[in-house]
Amino acid sequence: MFGPRRARQAAATLAAGAAVAATALLASPTASAAPQPIVGGTTTTTAAYPFIMQITDASGRQFCGGTLVSATKVVTAAHCMAGGSAGNVRVVGGRTYLNGTDGTVGRVSKIWVDPEYTEATSGHDVAVLTLSTPMPYKPVSYVSSSQTGVYAAGTTARILGWGTTSEYGSPSHQLRTATVPVLSDSSCRTSYGSDFVQSDMVCAGYSSGGVDTCQGDSGGPLLIGGVLAGITSWGEGCAEAGSPGVYTRLTTFSDLVTAQVGS
Ligand code: ARG
Repeated sequence: MFGPRRARQAAATLAAGAAVAATALLASPTASAAPQPIVGGTTTTTAAYPFIMQITDASGRQFCGGTLVSATKVVTAAHCMAGGSAGNVRVVGGRTYLNGTDGTVGRVSKIWVDPEYTEATSGHDVAVLTLSTPMPYKPVSYVSSSQTGVYAAGTTARILGWGTTSEYGSPSHQLRTATVPVLSDSSCRTSYGSDFVQSDMVCAGYSSGGVDTCQGDSGGPLLIGGVLAGITSWGEGCAEAGSPGVYTRLTTFSDLVTAQVGS
């Protein structure tokens, strides 16, 4: 179902592998702290973050995150929806554990994917799901298009998800969270060159790595000041020094999202 994204992931991982090999020659194995979960975070609950949603397939397998922005609207990543259809996607709220049976399973009546999303560049990585029935959880607000200053370098952002806790690791059974600093566009460009599309993306993470979103966290929120400001999108590997997480720059897409939320 979500296969096309894997190709790009594989390419990114290949490049990351080369970077790791180069680093290994310069640093002793003990010089870097062992990566920890999201990567590098702590466990939390959906009670603490009621707007965080699991996005699952029809059999309940979680593959992405999403954010409840109104009772019936969920913001996620466009790449999460590649090949998906409303009938084979579910949104699960109020479920802290992947293997839980609690919370609310919502059916999806409509999937809007930014029509300019392209897998080749990962630009415009935003989608809005419409739920058939309202979720009984408190939504979170999202940035408006005029709030372009929220991404000031050094600002603390919060990431959330059930993704893998290391680059080649397993998903986390329990929801996890961590904080990461927003990075300047110039440092993001230093990391990713022309793959970083400044109008569409923003980077967050530590230059030394160690804390990051990872596979399975995609589509989930990057919160700044408690407001949805980014969507987990991509990165080269996970939590590697010099390869920060890349998030959809939501201010660019706020008006498009608002049009969907009001539809
Ligand atoms: N594309 C991944 C997903 O589908 C998210 C990757 C985020 N990677 C990172 N290094 N921050 O779950």
